[in-house]
Amino acid sequence: MIQLNVNGKPVQVDVAPDTPLLWALRDTLQLTGTKYGCGQALCGACIVHMDGAPVPSCSIPVSAAAGRKITTIEAVATNRVGKVVQEAWRKLDVVQCGYCQSGQIMSAVALLSKNRKPSDADIDQAMAGNLCRCATYVRIRAAIHEAAKALA
Ligand code: FES
Ligand code: FES
Repeated sequence: MIQLNVNGKPVQVDVAPDTPLLWALRDTLQLTGTKYGCGQALCGACIVHMDGAPVPSCSIPVSAAAGRKITTIEAVATNRVGKVVQEAWRKLDVVQCGYCQSGQIMSAVALLSKNRKPSDADIDQAMAGNLCRCATYVRIRAAIHEAAKALA
């Protein structure tokens, strides 16, 4: 059994220690908002927060998440930054197919949590690991600026 803290709650998962965190979240805990894309830390679909920092959950063994605070898209709106980002996403109708958007939002929230006034360059850098096949990049950047305004 591996003891995790997910979305503010202690949980136990009965999986091998080298199981990727993504599968513990999706298959064991049924937190299916976090998506699988590449499995190789290349696309950002699986990003969650570990102690507030964005990490690709496909490439983190669940044993490395023990004792750390994991936050998934399901709980992102429980803090102010997450709520504001979610509202900006809705207001600007960012989502197209939606597949990449959990990861996009997790990266955006991590950025705005440490930088309330990101420049375009800051945004491009912070979001570089999140790919979107539908190419919603322009709306993502606009929504991050919109959220930054709301947080000011
Ligand atoms: S599925 Fe994890 S980065 Fe692509
Ligand atoms: S919205 Fe379709 S992949 Fe990003």
